[in-house]
Amino acid sequence: MRHLMNPMDFSVEELDKLFDLAADIEKDPKKYAHMCEGKKLATCFYEPSTRTRLSFESAMINLGGSVIGFSDAGSSSAAKGESVSDTIRVISCFADICAMRHPKEGAPMVAASRSGIPVINAGDGGHQHPTQTLTDLLTIRSLKGRLDNFTIGICGDLKFGRTVHSLVNALARYDKVHFVFISPEELRIPSYLREMLWDKALSFEEVIRLEDVMPRLDLLYMTRVQRERFFNEEDYVRLKDFYVLTKEKMERAREDMLVLHPLPRVNEISVEVDDDPRAVYFKQVQYGVYVRMALILTLLELV
Ligand code: NCD
Repeated sequence: MRHLMNPMDFSVEELDKLFDLAADIEKDPKKYAHMCEGKKLATCFYEPSTRTRLSFESAMINLGGSVIGFSDAGSSSAAKGESVSDTIRVISCFADICAMRHPKEGAPMVAASRSGIPVINAGDGGHQHPTQTLTDLLTIRSLKGRLDNFTIGICGDLKFGRTVHSLVNALARYDKVHFVFISPEELRIPSYLREMLWDKALSFEEVIRLEDVMPRLDLLYMTRVQRERFFNEEDYVRLKDFYVLTKEKMERAREDMLVLHPLPRVNEISVEVDDDPRAVYFKQVQYGVYVRMALILTLLELV
């Protein structure tokens, strides 16, 4: 039985297969509409979510399956002190597959070690968010036609942003990807990622100003400052509006540069940018459903 804790759990070849499947689902969704009949997905969310939980649920429903779960730790037995290990053993009796989000790093991994069903990490604290990365990669592959040979700017909260950590790990396996990390000093990428890039002799730079690097980017991945991971509100308030992508800044970008964002957006992308055809963050959400459909089918060994 296979779980998904980290995007690196899949080889590049396996990811290719998964993205081919997602692309086929996009082309011909009817073909997949009954593949999960009789199967149940449990969504166990101990942290807030809109997209991730609802896209998992929508993915399972699109496949003909059904969904059970909770969207708030307070309404589950966690409020009574139950451990994730016990909860997953119980959920294993009710469902065929589980997507779990938890504020503690490693909690879905602990659950997987006790589980009788595949567990998908739907975000664990400031650590990893593998299904967002699958979404990001499918978006890039579908809209750019490749996953290599580009310069990607990753901007915002690179310290606490789990989507950033998963994405950097995943992209580090493709050829000729140049990373431009754009953040205030306090929110730079964690040192373990910097060391991984050094060890693999990959090319990257760390800068503070977004404007200066705009003309060089093929992709710009914007992120939200992760308020819930800050130790004090003052630091958050000081840093929250450090970057705001505006129409003026977009004028400095290439005509085919794409703007991605895992969402939710707060202030870091001005709403006036939404009408720019290069802003693909809402398209990205749709790819998130296709890739989660492909993932459910793969982990349940139905393809
Ligand atoms: C992200 C997350 O939860 O890490 N959201 C998402 O799942 N698309 C990004 C964020 O909350 O900023």
